[in-house]
Amino acid sequence: MSDPLRDATARLAAAGIDNPRLDARVLWQAAGGDPARFETFIIRRAAREPVAYITGQKEFWSLSFAVSPGVLIPRPDTETIIDAVLADFPDRSAALRVLDLGTGSGCILAALLSEYPNASGLGIDSSQIAQNIAAGNLERLGLAERGSVRAGNWAENLDGSFDIIVSNPPYIRTADIAALEPEVKDFEPAQALDGGPDGLDAVRVLAPALKKLGGTAFIEIGAGQADSAAAVFAYAGLEVLRIARDLAGVPRIVIAGTKKQLE
Ligand SMILES: C[S@@+](CC[C@H](N)C(=O)[O-])C[C@H]1O[C@@H](n2cnc3c(N)ncnc32)[C@H](O)[C@@H]1O
Repeated sequence: MSDPLRDATARLAAAGIDNPRLDARVLWQAAGGDPARFETFIIRRAAREPVAYITGQKEFWSLSFAVSPGVLIPRPDTETIIDAVLADFPDRSAALRVLDLGTGSGCILAALLSEYPNASGLGIDSSQIAQNIAAGNLERLGLAERGSVRAGNWAENLDGSFDIIVSNPPYIRTADIAALEPEVKDFEPAQALDGGPDGLDAVRVLAPALKKLGGTAFIEIGAGQADSAAAVFAYAGLEVLRIARDLAGVPRIVIAGTKKQLE
């Protein structure tokens, strides 16, 4: 007799999936044991669609986020931003104002609002899909009273002051995108990935905007970009306070402040 899980695992392995058994189990659960639904899920996964787009959800900072094509799937590396903010702003009761530029699913903003119960924040994204998904996630997580989302181009036309500015901008070099896994290059939105010729296009736009906004900025960067990104921030007149490493030891988050704030 055929075993649906074993058969699916073999099909996913043949399609070049790294963890075929794990993916088959997750998709079996997500299909609620319905064989027809499971079959559709396996066809999609064998075509290299990410599991998170098939199940419609991804965990980040132990919170569940709805995701769909059109919004980046939250990555564990990005949790380094949350760790860095918690280290630098230890008072959990502070009424902090948080700005999340390029909010995507809203994962960074929501994680911070969940850690600081008196904080409030704004997420901005140029993608209308991301704006809708992030707003839905804040609502589902019970954070909509303290967090809002709007469409926009980075910090353009923004007033108000913020204590913390977070961003995980697109930072992959354009030429490197073709070599990424099919799950990423064929399914995740290009505007969430493509950082231009050297990966730093967004950083060059963000740095002067951060200088104007004040506050402390926590900006995610790609592997090998720390020195160049720090130079861009310094040129914009920001003080690079430190660079936080991710769990693999890769310099991942540039933490910068305005000189005014540091005086
Ligand atoms: C790498 S994704 C990060 C998403 C989410 N913050 C996360 O960490 O999972 C970058 C996000 O920046 C947004 N973005 C790209 N260009 C933008 C721009 N000019 N203004 C605002 N957001 C932009 C993309 O739509 C995408 O949602």
